[in-house]
Amino acid sequence: MKLIDYGVRDDERPYIEEWSKKNNIEVKIVPELLNPETIELAKDYDGVVAYQQLPYESAIFDKMNEFGIHVLSLRNVGVDNVPFDALKKNDIRLTNVPSYSPTAIAEYSVTGLMILLRSMKSMIRKVDKHNFMWAPDIGRELNEMTVGVAGTGRIGQAAIKIYQGFGAKVIAFDKYRNPNIEKQDLYVDTLDELLKESDVVTLHLPSLGAGNTVINKGSIANMKDGAIVVNTGRGDLINTADLNDAVKSGKLLGAVLDVYENEVGIFNSDRTGQELDDKLLSEMIENPKIIVSPHIAFYTTTAVKNMATISLDSMVDELNNGKSDNEIDLG
Ligand code: COI
Repeated sequence: MKLIDYGVRDDERPYIEEWSKKNNIEVKIVPELLNPETIELAKDYDGVVAYQQLPYESAIFDKMNEFGIHVLSLRNVGVDNVPFDALKKNDIRLTNVPSYSPTAIAEYSVTGLMILLRSMKSMIRKVDKHNFMWAPDIGRELNEMTVGVAGTGRIGQAAIKIYQGFGAKVIAFDKYRNPNIEKQDLYVDTLDELLKESDVVTLHLPSLGAGNTVINKGSIANMKDGAIVVNTGRGDLINTADLNDAVKSGKLLGAVLDVYENEVGIFNSDRTGQELDDKLLSEMIENPKIIVSPHIAFYTTTAVKNMATISLDSMVDELNNGKSDNEIDLG
């Protein structure tokens, strides 16, 4: 068996090399992303592993079929950039890594929130300039707040535990109810109810498809004055311009955005000293009440190792047994 792994960053490479040695399976590491040109490198390999944020182009899968490769294994969880139709047409199975570290993302959600609640963005900027005044950076206490968790999959459940540990009242919403959360009686019946009752709304949902936002002008009007939005899910869950307006007007106290609807091509690129073309993003970065980070919530040693190795394990299962626990139902 010979595998090829695309879009590999330097921080992933040691885990892939270690897996390859331990399993005695050749893995060709390719730093370039998977596209209709680089797929040529996959000729003579048995399976393709990849991670990227850019959409996977359909032509890749025609080529895979031509090379007799019928499994694509992703190193991440999100499949919103994969054209399922092109995979089905070419008889290609897809796997992801659904649980590389739910706690990495859940812990980041509360980290971002604490940075906002304790005005740390503004405080750090002040101290950098040797301004040691306290005001106006007075904090708020999480233990006095109601946190609404939207999405109670693995990450939402991990977030609930952490927020409860801080003493917050937690409520939750999900179309698919989880028995553990149900047992704790945390569910409200509708997303509207969650938005209405929460001081903090934290999003742990997958993309609902372009245009299907959860946070927008209409839903923000429903929220408490001075509420906070935290998003470590997908950027397109939020109409960002509406959110930015609501923070500027004071309707919302602030926001923590680890994902952004126009992040592809910007996040995880070094633009030190360059002006950004994206004026909305620049404005939010300037605002001390909006904590922007570059889709980094997942980025821990534990998560990166699991993404690198579980994707390869799934590939081996697929190639040896024709199935794996992480196979995605393409519909
Ligand atoms: C995913 O796993 O889909 C994520 O959103 C994290 C990604 C940046 C590796």
